[in-house]
Amino acid sequence: MSSTDNTPADKLATRAADEFRGLYGAAPEGVWAAPGRANLIGEHTDYNDGFALPFALPQRTRVAAARRTDGTLRLHSADVPSGVLTLRVADLDPAHPPQPPHGWARYPAGAVWALIDADLPVGPRGGADLHIRSDVPTGAGLSSSAALEVAAALALTELYGIPLARPELAALARRAENAYVGVPCGVMDQMASACATDGHALHLDTRDLRQQHIPFDCAAAGLRLLVIDTRVQHDLADGAYAERRASCHAAAAALGLPALRDLPYAELDRALGRLGDPALRRRVRHVVTENERVVRVEELLRAGRLREAGPLLTEGHASLRDDYEVSCPELDLAVATARAAGAYGARMTGGGFGGSALALIDADAEPAVTRAVTEAFARAGYRPPRITAAEPSAGAHRVL
Ligand code: GLA
Repeated sequence: MSSTDNTPADKLATRAADEFRGLYGAAPEGVWAAPGRANLIGEHTDYNDGFALPFALPQRTRVAAARRTDGTLRLHSADVPSGVLTLRVADLDPAHPPQPPHGWARYPAGAVWALIDADLPVGPRGGADLHIRSDVPTGAGLSSSAALEVAAALALTELYGIPLARPELAALARRAENAYVGVPCGVMDQMASACATDGHALHLDTRDLRQQHIPFDCAAAGLRLLVIDTRVQHDLADGAYAERRASCHAAAAALGLPALRDLPYAELDRALGRLGDPALRRRVRHVVTENERVVRVEELLRAGRLREAGPLLTEGHASLRDDYEVSCPELDLAVATARAAGAYGARMTGGGFGGSALALIDADAEPAVTRAVTEAFARAGYRPPRITAAEPSAGAHRVL
């Protein structure tokens, strides 16, 4: 599927094209972009076949690209000073991914590997020159990795004329991250980056990748979504994420279910009575109540009752903090302070253990909430948070 940009001129894309020319001595054949994401609600549900409601951020990763005919893949990033990395497409191997200082290259290299592994005709004689420039913050829980994988995969498939529906593109990008980069994530981030649309949240059923675009126009409702980056770096590759995932799968097996998605909210209490381990009970309660919250928030969005979604966001945070135990003091402080300063609701977004929180506020409350959170962080001795407003934005597309 080909798509061109309908958003205002993208300066970073033009810059990426100019830099490409300087690096590789010829113009790129195109520039593609894929956004980072925030998740409105539906956390740690995507590896339980559950629901999520993410949206695309205005920050994107641009990939300027051109084909090659010699089986070589050349990769360069404007964001990491590590020079051009040259690889043989036929040698791409998950057992030997690029190492530091080219660690970032695992994501685009993984995308190329996933395409070839799926027998999509990029190689072995094909290849590409890629140059990357991104304004998606890294380590902020806003899916800079998914943005890079999806942008690279989209560039390659469009360059090589490989017709791929967006959910398939997202699934390949996720495979790159799971099998090549080695991070056991679900599919939400790649789906949001590949499929989201401007002014909408993406209602995602992670069992069959069915999606619906739910109108989510905060500005028209006089609202704003703040993204509060705590600047505490999370690392999904560490054991906690994999441990939560394994607990959920163990609980589903103990309950005789294919996945926790199959446990209806109305049957939660009875099911909890069948699980002996209190920690496992808390994990299950989070997943089942979170799926229910996605459904309720989606209904409120469809009814244009955006403010009323606030309390459900806050409830979701409490569940992640107390039952799923993936929050951290900085996220809790961001949420509590935003709420005390007038937010309708606030919650951590993404995998947790650091990263960012979201706060739903009245548009004119932005200065007061920003100040309150910044001051609270200073008083607690934390690094100054980075606070920006986010409009639900376009998913991956060709820019130039
Ligand atoms: C990370 C993962 C996603 C998802 C979230 C939690 O962002 O990459 O797949 O599991 O955590 O909702």
